[in-house]
Amino acid sequence: MSKVLSAVAWPYANGPRHIGHVAGFGVPSDVFSRYMRMAGHDVLMVSGTDEHGTPILVQADKEGVSARELADRFNRVIAEDLVGLGLAYDLFTRTTTRNHYAVAQELFRGNYANGYMIEQTQLVAISPSTGRTLPDRYIEGTCPICGYGEARGDQCDNCGNQMDPVDLIEPRSKIDGETPRFEETSHFFLDLPALAEALGQWLDGREASGTWRPNVIKFSKNLLEDVRPRPMTRDIDWGIPVPLPGWEDNPSKKLYVWFDAVIGYLSASIEWARRTGDPQRWREWWNDPAALSYYFQGKDNITFHAQIWPAELLGYAGRGARGGATDPDATAYGVLNLPTEVVASEFMTMEGKQFSTSRGHVIYVRDVLERYGPDPLRYFICAAGPENQDADFTWAEFVQRNNSELVAGWGNLVNRTASMIHKRFGEIPAAGPLEPVDEELLAAIRGGFDTVGALIERQRFKAGIGEVMRLVGLANGYVSATEPFKLKGEDQRERLGTVLHVLAQAVTDLATLSAPFLPHGANRIHRIMGGAGDLVPMPELREVDDLDGGPGYPVIMGDYAATPQWASQPVVPGTPIGPPTPVFTKFDPSVVDEEIARMRAAGAAG
Ligand code: MF3
Ligand code: ZN
Repeated sequence: MSKVLSAVAWPYANGPRHIGHVAGFGVPSDVFSRYMRMAGHDVLMVSGTDEHGTPILVQADKEGVSARELADRFNRVIAEDLVGLGLAYDLFTRTTTRNHYAVAQELFRGNYANGYMIEQTQLVAISPSTGRTLPDRYIEGTCPICGYGEARGDQCDNCGNQMDPVDLIEPRSKIDGETPRFEETSHFFLDLPALAEALGQWLDGREASGTWRPNVIKFSKNLLEDVRPRPMTRDIDWGIPVPLPGWEDNPSKKLYVWFDAVIGYLSASIEWARRTGDPQRWREWWNDPAALSYYFQGKDNITFHAQIWPAELLGYAGRGARGGATDPDATAYGVLNLPTEVVASEFMTMEGKQFSTSRGHVIYVRDVLERYGPDPLRYFICAAGPENQDADFTWAEFVQRNNSELVAGWGNLVNRTASMIHKRFGEIPAAGPLEPVDEELLAAIRGGFDTVGALIERQRFKAGIGEVMRLVGLANGYVSATEPFKLKGEDQRERLGTVLHVLAQAVTDLATLSAPFLPHGANRIHRIMGGAGDLVPMPELREVDDLDGGPGYPVIMGDYAATPQWASQPVVPGTPIGPPTPVFTKFDPSVVDEEIARMRAAGAAG
């Protein structure tokens, strides 16, 4: 049994989440975390909304509201979306809590004290017509790395590299298109060159483990080819104050959003411990070198999780070329674990094109949940999501997979099993002598606990759900081979009982095996098969007070202690089985045209 930190990327609170977002970080991290809990590990799954920086300001400006108002609104919307998908966070919080501010500032001070946060001048963009500073978010130009024409002053959305405005080729103001003039200003830079060797050693060790996805380790190692100090403060008025005399009260310089966002993993762990009554408990996941940590995200986040965040952690512990000023064990947080794995997925497109909120080419999680419920979307993402290569979401495939795989495959197995048991026995019958065909099915499904478990543990979700569905197919094949619906004679009653007992066992085990992927469906099946309550725990939205006197906010939390074991549980003969209700819902094929028309209309309106 290990301590497992499941660190899930923090969505920007600048709009509702679309299905591409949750395909990258949301559903995969939940499948993993649910499985690891079932396998007996002590999982801490944390995230929250990322509420500072350019992305929030751009949207707030657009809507004519303050950054704070915008963040409040979308923090709530996003938390509702994610809880609706059943993502079982121990804590889903936000970056505007006082707790988070304090933790982020402590990390900054630690890096500064150890000499890894160095003050340097940087060129800042000035608008020639007004003479005022042009915030990063208002500068656009061509990415010097990938050539993308609309890279922003902080980041290129095409290749995911961080930018300084001055790096951009042909920079221009987004307000009026004028070419900014650059002037010197002071900022704090994370001294990546002084941390590069330590980063390299860590990455070599991770590479040797052989467990990272090949493209992720390759990208991460490449980042070390060109390390430069990176500014961790910005000319911006929305963010966490820089905790140094002379800087703290400067309204127009704040910590860089990515500097603070990645610290969210630590601050959320601390907040969780404080909220659950054992304020030091987070240390079990962060200070014990035997604890494991998995960071889930889309590929545009790799730079920040495989370089900036580990660099912040190394700097805080004084583990770079400059050493440290203090005994790391004597700091507030001590020596903190570096990531065990950076699990990055590729991108998802929709109907062949990139998601674009502004063009209306988008599908919001909320709408899918309202119209179709969580299972079909979770299933699509697991079975056909962007795990190792870019993937395309189409409504046709969504409907087809739902109808033929979930409804006609898995749901049908459950329904005919339950309805035959209900009609012929009213309760789960005892098994008579088992025939080879019975033994074979039970053994194959029991084997699923090893095979599916090993696949999920290696974050191979597509193969994992594929294996579950293969076993569903075997069970459906068993029905065709044994033909229980033909066993009508009194002399066949014992055999009928045996076959239905075997099927009840198969369905029960398959419900457990499918639970990390399809927890809502697994709970319904559990009840159809005579169980009470839920098989697997669900997260809930709670309204909480800020722990340190700030305004209250909604969080996702949950009590996951009742998580069942990842093992076959023998069914109990005599368990009453009522008439089954459907597990999944078939969609009319007309849904495809309807949805595509809806998207066109949104595109035309936008
Ligand atoms: N908000 C970022 C994005 O959507 C992800 C931040 S992950 C964090 O790309 F760890 F830095 F918070
Ligand atoms: Zn680029």
